[in-house]
Amino acid sequence: MIISLCCSKKGVTQNDYASSTLQSLAPFKIGAAISPYLLQNNPAYKQTLSEFNSITTENALKWGATQPSSKDNFDFSGADVIVSFCEASHKRIHGHNLVWYQYNPQWVNQFQGDSAAWDAIFKNHIQTLVSRYKGKISSWDVVNEAFNEDGSLRVSNCVWALHLGKDYIAKAFTYAREADPSVLLFYNDYGQENSPAKTAAILAMVKDFKQRGIPIDGLGIQMHININTPRDGITNVVRQFAATGLKIHISELDISVNPQKDKNLLYNQALQDRQSDLFYFVVHQYRTLVPSSQQWGITTWNVGDADSWIRHFNIKNDWPLLFDDNYKRKPVYAGFIKGFSE
Ligand code: XIL
Repeated sequence: MIISLCCSKKGVTQNDYASSTLQSLAPFKIGAAISPYLLQNNPAYKQTLSEFNSITTENALKWGATQPSSKDNFDFSGADVIVSFCEASHKRIHGHNLVWYQYNPQWVNQFQGDSAAWDAIFKNHIQTLVSRYKGKISSWDVVNEAFNEDGSLRVSNCVWALHLGKDYIAKAFTYAREADPSVLLFYNDYGQENSPAKTAAILAMVKDFKQRGIPIDGLGIQMHININTPRDGITNVVRQFAATGLKIHISELDISVNPQKDKNLLYNQALQDRQSDLFYFVVHQYRTLVPSSQQWGITTWNVGDADSWIRHFNIKNDWPLLFDDNYKRKPVYAGFIKGFSE
């Protein structure tokens, strides 16, 4: 494998890595966001997880999944399936997420109470989840997607900002830290590569947290991008976030080849080549711009094209990941791996 890497750059294909895996070749952790249902019901999916040494809970730890019907009922059935699997296979677990403006159950959206009552459900949710998985989950996305594209805080569509005030983000981090003094706490968001204003808002939040002694250990760059995403935007966010000294996680990587949602599009060679080059670019930028002590790793959002949220969420034909519909390595796998060393 190493010989083919050194000697024939252009000719390297995914088949040259037959005896290796992503995790065995990478200088940092390589993750995937997974579903307990597929883990239990799809052997090819489960087998492909041997490529990864970090796992993010895709939906299983979201509020809607863990506290679906009332403040007194917690459901950890899905999350526990993932956690047991990761413990048995020695994979790091990244918890996603404690606080988000979306995916909250109806009882939360309709909750009536003063700010103390809102604070009580907020704190209870955060601390119940963090305490339950203390020593098992290494890191959490504490708050997800708090800022708008123009850098302002989401307020009108975020129950937490509406009922707890703008400092809800700091509160969430403080409550999480109280529940587990050693778990790493991340802020996670999307679109920074297209929005310098959002990047600036996140950097200002980090500066403010440092000044006030609010705990924060890392920043997640979701990186849901497409083949037309400008590369300088990717470089800018990775470089600026690395300068904070925090751990940096490319937390939800996928590369759409069909941003125009063309129903007749086929996954042709030209698209695969562009996608492969961009996978290489992302991995390369991360490896070279983020100091190794800050590299929390790169996580793809889902495992193979068949289970990608891009297909289900946007209802379109797309092929955004490293594994195909049958969980075979795609040619773009070689582009991703090239980023580990070239
Ligand atoms: C997505 C899941 O993948 C879907 O299954 C679900 O229906 C909606 O949420 N940013 C995030 C993730 O932080 O939680 C989202 O996950 C994708 C976008």
